[in-house]
Amino acid sequence: MDPLLQAALDARNNAHAPYSNFRVGAAIEDESGRIHTGCNIENATYGLTLCAERVAVFKAISEGARKFKRIAVAADTATLTPPCGACRQILWEFCGNAELTLVNLQHKTETFQLKDLFPRPFDASFLD
Ligand code: THU
Repeated sequence: MDPLLQAALDARNNAHAPYSNFRVGAAIEDESGRIHTGCNIENATYGLTLCAERVAVFKAISEGARKFKRIAVAADTATLTPPCGACRQILWEFCGNAELTLVNLQHKTETFQLKDLFPRPFDASFLD
C-alpha cells in the first residue's frame, strides 16, 4: 500500500468524532517526501470542528513545510469521501493543483487533480 494512503488510514484512527462518529484521516506529502497527517477533531459546539485535511495542512505549515506534492483522504464510505468546500480552498492555497487520492477501508481508491475538484478558485493571483 502506498505509504501516503496508509498514513491517512492510520491518522483516521486518531479522529475525535464523538458527535458524528464519522472518522476521517488525511495525509499530505511535502516536496522533501515527508508525510504530515491529520484527523478530524470535533467540538461540542459543532461549529468549531476541524476537518482532517485542514489539520494536516496546518500542522505541516506550522512545522515549516511549504510545498506539497500529494494529498490523501481516508474515510469509511463506499462512495469515497471528498474534501469539503472549505478544505478545498485551504488545500488550493497551500498545495495548488496537487494530486488528491481518496481511499476507504477496503482500499478502494480514486485519484484527482485538485483543479478538477475545485475549478475557478479564488487565490493570491487576484490580489496582485
Ligand atoms: N470531515 C472531514 O474531516 N473531512 C472531510 O473531507 C469531510 C468531513 C469531518 C468533519 C466532521 O467531523 C465529520 O467529518 C462529519 O462532517
